[in-house]
Amino acid sequence: MNERNRPITNSIVGEILGEGSGKRRRPEPTSIVIFGATGDLTGRKLAPALYNVMVDGAMTDPTQIIGVSRGAMPVKDFADKLKGTVGEFSRQRVEPDKWDKFAAMLDYVGGEFSDDNIYLQLKAKLDVLKSKTKGNRVFYLSTPPAVFPLILEKLNHHGLIEKVAQRAGQPSCRVIVEKPFGRDLATARALNDMIGGFLHESQIYRIDHYLGKETVQNILVLRFGNSIFEPLWNRNHVDHVQITAAESIGIEGRGAFYEQTGVVRDIIQNHLLQVLSLVTMEVPASFSADDIRDEKGQVLRSVRALTLNEVANDCVRGQYRGYRDEPGVAADSQTPTYAAMKFMIDSWRWQGVPFYLRAGKKMAERLTEVAIHFKSVPLVLFKDEAAGSVLQPAVLTLRIQPQEGISLRFVAKVPGENIQVGNVVMNMTYADAFNRPISEAYERLLLDCMRGDATLFNRRDSVDRAWELIQPVLQVWEATPGVHVYEPGTAGPAVADEMMRRDGTSWRELGKKS
Ligand code: BG6
Repeated sequence: MNERNRPITNSIVGEILGEGSGKRRRPEPTSIVIFGATGDLTGRKLAPALYNVMVDGAMTDPTQIIGVSRGAMPVKDFADKLKGTVGEFSRQRVEPDKWDKFAAMLDYVGGEFSDDNIYLQLKAKLDVLKSKTKGNRVFYLSTPPAVFPLILEKLNHHGLIEKVAQRAGQPSCRVIVEKPFGRDLATARALNDMIGGFLHESQIYRIDHYLGKETVQNILVLRFGNSIFEPLWNRNHVDHVQITAAESIGIEGRGAFYEQTGVVRDIIQNHLLQVLSLVTMEVPASFSADDIRDEKGQVLRSVRALTLNEVANDCVRGQYRGYRDEPGVAADSQTPTYAAMKFMIDSWRWQGVPFYLRAGKKMAERLTEVAIHFKSVPLVLFKDEAAGSVLQPAVLTLRIQPQEGISLRFVAKVPGENIQVGNVVMNMTYADAFNRPISEAYERLLLDCMRGDATLFNRRDSVDRAWELIQPVLQVWEATPGVHVYEPGTAGPAVADEMMRRDGTSWRELGKKS
């Protein structure tokens, strides 16, 4: 049977978990405590992810999920509430027997996060589970960052967490912290210091769900698992790189949150700078968490800090028309829902190669991709085609989502007697290449945390550096109004096109798959 027709079996799940290679372990039985258990993220992402992980048989029994949230309610109501969102957002159908098994894993504690009573209840529940879970626990802080200190202090006070380096064979105690991690460099540092007061770095899992996406992980496999790309992956061959995260949706009722956040904090500081670091980092000594994170940190340190002048010339902010009418949004809001910016990297490999990043809501389509634009050929042989812009430089596109895959645009001879050239595209899609569903990022990340594998989580140094890099942008934009309005369903404000034109290039058209 060929690879494409292979059915999904438990042995394949084993391969996904890496059991065959001995590299990926099944997680230990664990208690997962989610603070903010009735919130949007739990409903849309965490609960569906945990349900899918259970259905795939990737968890180890018993795994218990305890939701903690403000309102009191019987656990049955909590389970029913999640059933609705899991039904809506899970990649696998909710089937009665599987749901019953999942619902049996759920528990709930309701009350204010400041109320000692909820921590006492949690402690009692975790103590009962101890004999089965060996004391392994993960606390997921899916709450506004403002309450992190309170929750950690209480967890610490009640002996639910203690600061200790995580070692194999010992009961684990880990905390997952959701983004945005701080509001700027100073608050991120203060948050890191505060968390560091309660937990050892090996216990802190700073989540950026982009790192859990298969296609983002594939960036390293493509680069370092093939010998043909790496020799070209440098300033001698690459003209520039475009990284796009376009969303067709708006802010989805999260007006109050978005007003405090904006696209730079929401997407660029974390998701896009992480993708940039994977595209540009040097070869790590190994695939261990720290070797990879060392290299990511190193390249982020080489990204040149923007001057205030560069913020004015090489960064563009936009806001979709209608944003100010959304609930929770100020009538004169200057919050950007679109941003584009150019970064340069002062390294031997990347000197002189511009990296253009853009992200936006209510854009022409949902598309996240990395496009490596290679240099033009010396034009001696094909002058006419070059003059008519037929001869386009090659572009390698890593499509993160949707239609996950990789494509290469290059020039080929058009059949016929004359030497006439045309641009062609070679396309690989995950759906065609692997007869296997792509799991959601949160599935992989929750499993990794339970296993104690922090490779796909952010270390303090890269979070700090990412804030440093966007700090000048935040500073200028927050001090001076000047957001450019763009129409929903477009590619963003026209000034972003001008920024590219000045550099003699243009954005990749949204919707064009080459
Ligand atoms: C989140 C942002 O981190 O990522 C959201 O807060 C955004 O605003 C989302 O919509 C996009 O994630 P994905 O996986 O749909 O690209």
